[in-house]
This record gives sequence, C-alpha cells and structure tokens, in this order.
Amino acid sequence: MSGIEELDEDRLGALAHKLDRPLVLIGLMGTGKSTIGRRIAGMLGLDFVDADDEIVHASQRSISEIFDEFGEDYFREGERRVIARLMTENKGVIATGGGAFVNDETRALILKQGIAIWLDCDIDTLVERTSRRNTRPLLKQGGPREILTRLKEERSGAYSRAQVHVVTGDLPHHETAMQVLEALEKWL
Ligand code: S3P
Repeated sequence: MSGIEELDEDRLGALAHKLDRPLVLIGLMGTGKSTIGRRIAGMLGLDFVDADDEIVHASQRSISEIFDEFGEDYFREGERRVIARLMTENKGVIATGGGAFVNDETRALILKQGIAIWLDCDIDTLVERTSRRNTRPLLKQGGPREILTRLKEERSGAYSRAQVHVVTGDLPHHETAMQVLEALEKWL
C-alpha cells in the first residue's frame, strides 16, 4: 500500500512509533521548513521547535539585528550552540535556518543524532516565497534571485548529505507535508 491518500491514522501512528531521533528540516530559505515542520509534527503528534526562533528568544534580538550588530560568524556560532541544545532536548521536529547544515559541526551532529530531511525547491518558488517577508539579512545584500541561485550552488553539496531528500515545488503545504512523510516512511 502506498499513496498520499492512504497515509491514515494507523500509518502515521506506526511512523511516529518508529522514530527514536528528532526529525531535522534543512534546506534553503523559503523552502517551507518551519511551516512543513510544524505541520508534520502535528500529524505525528510530536513537538515542534524552530531553531531561528530559539536564537531570537535566547539573544532577545531579531536575526537581522544579530547580523547587523555582531556579524554572520557570531550568528553561526549561536546557531550551532542552539541546535546542539535542541538536538539533546527534543525528540520531535526541528526546523533549522538555511545555513545551519552547512556548518561542519552542526551537520555532523544532526546526521549522528537526528534524521535530516532536505527540502529542495526550485529557485522561482523560493524567490516568490522569500519576497513576502524582508526579515532575511542575506537576501538584502543584492538581488534575491542571484543570491538564492548562488547559495543553492554553494550549499547543495552539504544538503545532499541529508538522509532524506524531498523535491518540492509550489505545492500547497499539506501536499508537501505528505511528500515528506512518505519519503520518511520509505527511508525508515
Ligand atoms: C539563513 C536562513 C535564515 C536565517 C538567517 C540565515 C541562511 O533562516 O537562519 O537569515 O543562511 O540561509 P530560514 O532558512 O528559515 O529563512
């Protein structure tokens, strides 16, 4: 049996039961890591946490303020520490910022202690989605399409190390959530 429409309560329950490690969503800005992460956590009856929100909470500053006041390296170090903490505290679903999995230490930790799920999406969709909010400091440094295209090239090698790879598109979030759960079910 397979197929999106057949991912019923029993299958979701069996899937949740098999998980002994956090699910960690990775991928570029605009792929929907937080939205999809929250949704699959709800479907599986697991907790959800967003690493960027935790960084903002811990530092009492927005991501843009951290980049402006302290620089990207400082942000990356905070991100590494926050994700390390979340990985030990959380058995549910964790959404990470787009650069987190590029950091060697963070990537090694996620791969060892969690299940990394790469949400991979075409550039047109990412440009459209990221244009809805102007809270991402990296996208203020030039043209968003050029920046996202470059980041995709630079980061895909690291992202491809994830245990689960889901190619998404401009689909409704519930369909992407189903795609993720089916890919996960196959991998498990
Ligand atoms: C970043 C992605 C952002 C945030 C920060 C840096 C990146 O998170 O962590 O602006 O390096 O790709 P989202 O991927 O959730 O937008």
